Amino acid sequence: MFEARDAPYPELKKSHTMAHVGRPFTDFKPPAAAPVWAAIEGLARYNVLVAALELGVFDCLQRIGPSILEAVNAEIPASPEHLRTLLDSIVVMELLDQVNGVYQLNDAAKRYLVSDGPASMAALIPVAPGPHENWTRLADTVRNGRPATPIEDDPAAFYVPLVEGTFTTMYRCAMRADLKLRYSALSAPRVLDLGAGGAPWAIAILHANHGATAVVNDLPGVLPVAVRKAAEHGVADRIDLLEGDFHTVQIEPEAFDIVVLGHICRTEGAEGARHLIGRAFEALRPEGVLILADYFCDIERKLNPHAVLMGATMMASTINGNGFTGQQYSGWIRAAGFEAIRLIEPIGFQQQYVAAKPRRRGTSTRQGE
Ligand SMILES: C[S@@+](CC[C@H](N)C(=O)[O-])C[C@H]1O[C@@H](n2cnc3c(N)ncnc32)[C@H](O)[C@@H]1O
Repeated sequence: MFEARDAPYPELKKSHTMAHVGRPFTDFKPPAAAPVWAAIEGLARYNVLVAALELGVFDCLQRIGPSILEAVNAEIPASPEHLRTLLDSIVVMELLDQVNGVYQLNDAAKRYLVSDGPASMAALIPVAPGPHENWTRLADTVRNGRPATPIEDDPAAFYVPLVEGTFTTMYRCAMRADLKLRYSALSAPRVLDLGAGGAPWAIAILHANHGATAVVNDLPGVLPVAVRKAAEHGVADRIDLLEGDFHTVQIEPEAFDIVVLGHICRTEGAEGARHLIGRAFEALRPEGVLILADYFCDIERKLNPHAVLMGATMMASTINGNGFTGQQYSGWIRAAGFEAIRLIEPIGFQQQYVAAKPRRRGTSTRQGE
């Protein structure tokens, strides 16, 4: 029997269907299931995008312009029903527009998804999460503290397409960083780019400063990407190659004005990251500058989902990799002996810690030399 005295909302309760049929009533409003569905649909969203890129949907629409399904289908042989479902899925993901049955590229697709877009991520998307099969074995990786098939087993197979895919964004970021770092104004700086990939940082600095020279390091199978990119940008004659493991390869001490650690620390674990920062310190001349690019978690590891999930990506596919907080990185940089530590963000979501090696006691500043 309904008892009014313990009912906070008696009117609602009396008329409530469940109350009429004697089923338990609760005033408790359940939390939305949306975050759960977002996780489930995340898999669908990613695979829809990868399939669309593989089928050439975005490049096709760029070539033929706004088109109905049949026109797209004439260019992309496929089951019409399945192709429609794929296109409609991309529309609800807000990466294509559809008006009156006509599909067309929106601004996001033009910028990020066509192969020659100004900030194209087309080559990056299939490889960015790491080997896909590692995600299906994540529980085992968490249990064992190590993935069964880490990318370190065959680094070139993973890194060559990755650094091809990230080059455009990193190069844009490195070029823009000059507004903050003024490397273009230095007198004939020497740059060391460790784990350089396609060498976006070294190439950007050489492009902006015609007196600059660079030593570019990477693993044997990956270094040819840097060679090719340097040639494409007309700076190959000012680059020396340093092939080998960045933890052990011989580096000239106190010989560089800028050392770049571009997205190489998070794969190495805390100890490995500290080792690389220490190597950078030794390689720099007094007053030389460290540039350390990565995705930095906030101190509670909950306010920057991209950085936290990048840590999960490292966990899924590398032996030691993880996500680290900005406080950890800046602490390691300080402990290595650097000073004047600051954080810059030349383009959105791309941040770097910048720090200086102290000048020797009793010497004047470089500007005063
Ligand atoms: C995420 S990519 C970063 C590329 C580039 N520095 C950038 O900022 O875009 C990591 C790079 O580190 C290289 N790398 C990984 N382990 C290495 C090692 N032990 N020694 C030298 N290079 C390594 C990879 O081959 C790859 O080119």
